[in-house]
Amino acid sequence: MDIPIKMKKVQRTGTLILSMIFILIIILYKNYSNGRCTEPKSKNYNSKYCINEMDRFDWYSMKNQNSSIPATEVSTLYAYKFEHEITITLSSWKFIGYRVHCRYVDKDGAEIGRPYETFSYPEFVVNCPKRDGTYEIGLSVEEFGSFKPLPIIYRVLKKPLFELSMCVAPLYGDEPKWLMFIEMIEHYKLQGVEHFYNYIHEISDYDSKVIDYYAGLGIVENHYLLEKGLRTDRHRHINEVVDCNIWSRGHSKWTIFADLDERLVMTDYPGTILNYIREVDDEKIGSLKFRQQWILKTELMPQEYEGKDQLLQWMAAHRWHNSTGIARPGHTTKCIVDSTKVFIMSIHLVIEFFPGNGYYEKELKPEEGLVRHYRDQSLGEWGEKWLKTVMEFGPLRNTDYPRKYIGNLTENVVNTAAIVYGNLII
Ligand SMILES: *[C@@H]1O[C@H](CO)[C@@H](O)[C@H](O)[C@H]1NC(C)=O
Ligand SMILES: *[C@@H]1O[C@H](CO)[C@@H](O)[C@H](O)[C@H]1NC(C)=O
Ligand SMILES: *[C@@H]1O[C@H](CO)[C@@H](O)[C@H](O)[C@H]1NC(C)=O
Repeated sequence: MDIPIKMKKVQRTGTLILSMIFILIIILYKNYSNGRCTEPKSKNYNSKYCINEMDRFDWYSMKNQNSSIPATEVSTLYAYKFEHEITITLSSWKFIGYRVHCRYVDKDGAEIGRPYETFSYPEFVVNCPKRDGTYEIGLSVEEFGSFKPLPIIYRVLKKPLFELSMCVAPLYGDEPKWLMFIEMIEHYKLQGVEHFYNYIHEISDYDSKVIDYYAGLGIVENHYLLEKGLRTDRHRHINEVVDCNIWSRGHSKWTIFADLDERLVMTDYPGTILNYIREVDDEKIGSLKFRQQWILKTELMPQEYEGKDQLLQWMAAHRWHNSTGIARPGHTTKCIVDSTKVFIMSIHLVIEFFPGNGYYEKELKPEEGLVRHYRDQSLGEWGEKWLKTVMEFGPLRNTDYPRKYIGNLTENVVNTAAIVYGNLII
């Protein structure tokens, strides 16, 4: 049918007006999303830009009591790009409230814009607003001082890639690690852990073979804490916990923070750790705390692989049973956290959740879950220093690794060791 010319004109005008409205909406939306929560109470309020209804950078500043101390040097670890900021982790000890400058670098190595003055808060963390075209980022003490550009780990994710992961405390020291490492990975895999954020301070060539093997499978990713300045075990461990809280943030729904010799296990609860966290139905729970039980480890692990019989004798789950009582609530607990909810993480507990949502820690009863900690008695003189203290939790008794999983654990450890160290061709 033929449409009269006048009608066509009306139609065209209508389309034009509609397109203009559409463009206007896009412009308004873009402006709103570029601004950082200037009108927290408006109906366009996007909580993601804000913390507790404040612009997040103002909130950091308020937490830091709006002061910043001049720094003399700053050493950086890793940089992460999130939807609303770039977060840089540090290794400088007790570095909180110090003034530094964000330095933005484009693909060609040219600096973008004027350096942005910011500060470290909380300890070991610096946040920088995002800038278009940023390819690498660094921190300098002086506005135009020297800096080391860091590659940026991409964390603008719509949803987590993993449901359950683990942050492993830094590896260091002379005790051979290969067997403990395999057993740790295979234990947690059976519990539903999909990914391991692993930290290396020192590792032998022999032990690194199995780390490389798992990295090749994409199960393990490594971060390195190699600096000489990282003097004490505790310093490195805290750096790891702070960095891993950010590394895992939004990347894994739940993240276990534990050590090479610690095995979180479910006790009377019939399923795996993954089954358990899937049943957590209170959004306010930001952390699940597991109480400790020490299993006395009295010999150092074997240097090199010798075959299946050796593994059956030396796997921690087979070799060590002499156990302390269960530590009292809150004592040296280990946690599984949702790191999107955790503002400040520590080794045994969450120090501070992001505010406003009532997040809290839930401690499991020993009948639900526990940490089986194969604690070496000689390393760090633990037996001499601590055994007496932990004896207050009850007399020593023999305990076993969960019977239900020992078969599969053994088989998987034996297979992996044979592939990596026994030249088994698969
Ligand atoms: C710190 O800064 C924030 C945001 O700029 C402001 O709301 C707050 O009143 C300041 N606090 C102090 C103690 O100056
Ligand atoms: C358990 O360890 C304690 C302390 O080292 C020791 O005295 C005891 O004999 C051990 N028990 C067993 C059954 O090995
Ligand atoms: C042990 O492994 C077998 C074979 O992969 C699997 O069918 C079984 O469910 C596993 N058992 C446990 C308790 O994980």
